[in-house]
Amino acid sequence: MKVLVVYGSKRGGTAGLAGMIGGAFQRAGWTAEVRNAEASDPISDADIVVIGGALYMNRWHRAARGFARRHRGGLRSVPVWLFSSGPLDDTARQGSLAAVPQVQSIAADLDARGHMTFGGRLEADARGLLARSMAKQRSGDWRDATHVAEWVHQILHDFIPVEIVLPAARTAPAAAEVAAEVAIPPQRGRSRTVAEA
Ligand SMILES: Cc1cc2nc3c(=O)[nH]c(=O)nc-3n(C[C@H](O)[C@H](O)[C@H](O)COP(=O)(O)O)c2cc1C
Repeated sequence: MKVLVVYGSKRGGTAGLAGMIGGAFQRAGWTAEVRNAEASDPISDADIVVIGGALYMNRWHRAARGFARRHRGGLRSVPVWLFSSGPLDDTARQGSLAAVPQVQSIAADLDARGHMTFGGRLEADARGLLARSMAKQRSGDWRDATHVAEWVHQILHDFIPVEIVLPAARTAPAAAEVAAEVAIPPQRGRSRTVAEA
């Protein structure tokens, strides 16, 4: 199984979170490719795609938005999860911060299965007028590897491999019986449900 983790990051904090996500999948036995959203490579053979973007002024990093737009067709036929990184405090740790409206509409467009907001990072010597003045009060690192690991665990729990849902050798009625037996968790996945078989 393979996961593709794509990130849009200005100052490296979100890139680091993407690396943590890839590492958590690898510890679960998956192959992980972690890639900057600016790269033009195709999404290829990933079983899951995770897209993350840094939040700036309540907007997702431009490269993450561009990736979602460029690959919309392919992303709509693979299970997708999204994450945002931002809050410079511990408010994200409970896992209950809603996605900003812009990311909510991207999630709806891609039929994403889930979204998580993680704490962000701002270095004390951050460059840029606004960042520098913000850093005077809120510099620090609120990225939390345990929070990341918990989220990946949840993704793996919710992920239903296509072979289980759509057994190739089964006839349609038999597949329907299997569907009734497989407990499908409540999620917004579209591409791997029996309903579309
Ligand atoms: C100018 C500026 C605006 C920011 N706006 C937001 C915001 O709207 N919401 C948020 O949660 N975090 C905001 N942050 C915090 C960043 O999202 C956080 O530093 C993040 O980790 C940056 O990711 P990056 O290092 O990958 O660029 C802002 C930071 C700066 C410097």
